Amino acid sequence: MKPSLETTVNGMKFENPFVLASGPPGTNARVIAKSFDLGWGGCVIKTISLDSSKVVNTAPRYGKLKSRETGEVVGFENIELISDRPFDVWIDELKQLKKQYPNKIVIASIMEEYRREAWHEITRRTQETGVDGFELNLSCPHGLPERKMGMAMGEDPELCAEVVAWVKEVSTIPVWAKMTPNVGDVTAPAKASVRGGADGISAINTILSVIGIDLQTLRPMPTVEGHTVPGGYSGQAVRPIALRQIMEIARALPGVPVSGMGGIETGSDAAQFFLLGAHTVQICTGAMLRGYEIVDELKEDLTKFMVEHRFERVADIVGKSLPYFTTHFDLVERQRAAKAAKAGRSNRDAETWQGAIKQETDSLTSG
Ligand SMILES: Cc1cc2nc3c(=O)[nH]c(=O)nc-3n(C[C@H](O)[C@H](O)[C@H](O)COP(=O)(O)O)c2cc1C
Repeated sequence: MKPSLETTVNGMKFENPFVLASGPPGTNARVIAKSFDLGWGGCVIKTISLDSSKVVNTAPRYGKLKSRETGEVVGFENIELISDRPFDVWIDELKQLKKQYPNKIVIASIMEEYRREAWHEITRRTQETGVDGFELNLSCPHGLPERKMGMAMGEDPELCAEVVAWVKEVSTIPVWAKMTPNVGDVTAPAKASVRGGADGISAINTILSVIGIDLQTLRPMPTVEGHTVPGGYSGQAVRPIALRQIMEIARALPGVPVSGMGGIETGSDAAQFFLLGAHTVQICTGAMLRGYEIVDELKEDLTKFMVEHRFERVADIVGKSLPYFTTHFDLVERQRAAKAAKAGRSNRDAETWQGAIKQETDSLTSG
């Protein structure tokens, strides 16, 4: 039987677990509609706020790290802010989108200043459009923290709990909190968010980075009028860090749905996130670099993996590799026990051989 990619998380029915992550791939309703036509299961829209006039982007705002051997982009840095499109325009577009695509999952990524009324207002007005869920951007690492938003909230567990609780006072739909990886212990803000009422956790947002220095001009990149700021790193290169943080969150919060992202470009990459406890996966940089069309490959590749391992549903994969993480002390113990068992086996083998030889010689001499 062909495995099913359909999966239900927090009551939201995804026709497949591949969701566009908040960013350029979900920058307006027109491109989101295109992605739905091509087969994506859902989209987290580019983060919106009540007053877009405060959001001013720069150009250039992207930087790339390429493989020395193949020239392939393996790492990607951005200093892009949240959506600079007016809130009212977004509200109209979201209404249309849900009318046109009732079976696709639309998650509104929202961000506001540290004010209860502002979070209440954005939650109330956005959910009136019929979107399926919220993702709270508590994690944008650049620009917004200067206004005490994004990562400035996400790195402080108490603020996470408080802001999530404000949203939950008003929200009638599921709420995911999106974590920053730029903290020592990602489980602290994740646990605090769940304490505040979050229905799920998304991770990871981008990793603070400096993509490189132009050795001609000696200016750091991306260079805007000769200067820059550290930006957010994403793409293939961040996948091992994302996998580690997903594993930590899943172990710390058993039963809480996790939406995993960071460097996913293939179905095999996605399978590893499910194995470490993710229930859905999100993709931003992969879709930017390779196009929305990769969704076909993602679905095929994941289906092949499921057939090989006889997984019938995505939920069957979730967390299957988690039991194999332990402590270093335990690894040493396991190694010692395995060596002892092997030595015991060789002793037993030697005894068996000696016994057999003795029996044979006995039978020869007695004959
Ligand atoms: C250009 C760009 C813009 C982004 N904008 C947002 C955003 O507005 N809100 C947000 O929550 N995450 C944003 N992200 C982060 C992504 O949603 C995602 O968490 C991160 O890039 C890791 O996934 P990836 O390796 O698949 O890109 C952005 C990422 C990129 C590359």
